[in-house]
Amino acid sequence: MEKFLVKGPSKIKGEIKISGSKNSSLPILCASILFDKRVEIKNLPKVRDIETLLEILSKSLGFAVRRNKQKNSVIIFKTKKINTFCSYKLVSTMRASINLLGPLISKYKKATLSLPGGCLIGARPVNYHLSALKKLGMKYKIKKGYIHAHVEKNLVGTTIKFPKISVGATANTIIAACFAKGKTILKNCAIEPEIKYDLTNFLNKAGAKIKWIGKRTVRIYGVKSLKSISYSVMGDRIECGTFCVAATISNGNLKIKGLNPNIINTELNYLKKTGAKIKKSKNEIHIKGPKKVKCIKFLQTKEYDGFPTDLQAQFMALLCKANGQSIISENIFENRFMHVAELRRLGAKILIRGNKAIIEGNTNFEGAELMSSDLRASVALVIAASVANGKSIINRIYHLDRGYERIEKKLKKVGVNIKRIS
Ligand code: UD1
Repeated sequence: MEKFLVKGPSKIKGEIKISGSKNSSLPILCASILFDKRVEIKNLPKVRDIETLLEILSKSLGFAVRRNKQKNSVIIFKTKKINTFCSYKLVSTMRASINLLGPLISKYKKATLSLPGGCLIGARPVNYHLSALKKLGMKYKIKKGYIHAHVEKNLVGTTIKFPKISVGATANTIIAACFAKGKTILKNCAIEPEIKYDLTNFLNKAGAKIKWIGKRTVRIYGVKSLKSISYSVMGDRIECGTFCVAATISNGNLKIKGLNPNIINTELNYLKKTGAKIKKSKNEIHIKGPKKVKCIKFLQTKEYDGFPTDLQAQFMALLCKANGQSIISENIFENRFMHVAELRRLGAKILIRGNKAIIEGNTNFEGAELMSSDLRASVALVIAASVANGKSIINRIYHLDRGYERIEKKLKKVGVNIKRIS
């Protein structure tokens, strides 16, 4: 199994280009099921979750998938042999595959999809996906761990209010509603830029009729078909935020290209509180880390445009080095503190009280052997190890490969002594 060997401490300096957004690419690729004609998607990140979804589309569902890795693009088109079955084996490796249900039902009127299980960060149920699609007319039964779903004629538009904000359920329902008869209104939607901006623009460019008519309300008029398009996905705001943290923690000096900085204003404002100096320009952030990181009294994860849960672990690593105590409250996933035990192995003093982590600060990390538990937790360990004294080994980095494109190459280029070993 591959590992990272990191020798610290290092100072991060130079320029990094971020990749396309994983969390945009996934629902957009799922939405490609709606098309009769070819669709081209560009700026895809080269990460394992994307490869897994492309494999599901081609091997399991029968779409023709032509990948151009040099150009980071893919062309997808319908064949005569489309299936609507997704096995546990495929779905269990990637929870986002629940987002195949909406497009399959909308376009092909039936789907049999394995229920995704929980994962280390929480139970991650799919009840909001199922109840919203049911309101659009989907009928379903759960048998032996599979969702067996069908729709008799067409999905029919209606008004749905999500009981709680869910990124995945919002995406699934928007995609399904594109072919639902009449008007669908979705309230209390997730407004993460991957959905409100990228998925919406992608579908509208192809002829869908989606309009955001309130902060969390979207109106969709059903259409009969979508036209062939080519679309480039937005940059990855979590990757961008991760590199911003890496620069801040190491008293570094980094230019990060490939994302409109206004998308991550909340995160950048918190980084300023820790002492980072930030200059924003079009699609570029220039960030300089402070000599001594300042603590943040209270930071809580929230739905966009609040502070993202996907950057919680990275900020925790940063606050370990701050000049005093910080508190982080995790409000999205019930068990997203797997990185704490590993950060403690580097010397961190962190106390967990329910969904809050109390971080003592003033830690000088000492290199150690560590275990990755999930995608964002693993990258937090890489960041901490890059400023630790001495050698760290980070095991099970396959978690990291799910969502970060060649991170060791990018970090090496800006001064981190990091090597992939097997
Ligand atoms: C997406 C992101 C993930 C990010 C998360 C929160 C993708 C592929 N993944 O995940 O990186 O961490 O948003 O910003 O874009 N919930 C239910 N029932 C449901 C659905 C969700 O109870 O049917 C709960 C979840 O357990 C969680 C909360 O709602 O507590 C938010 O989950 P959700 O926004 O759906 O996250 P994902 O779409 O899975």
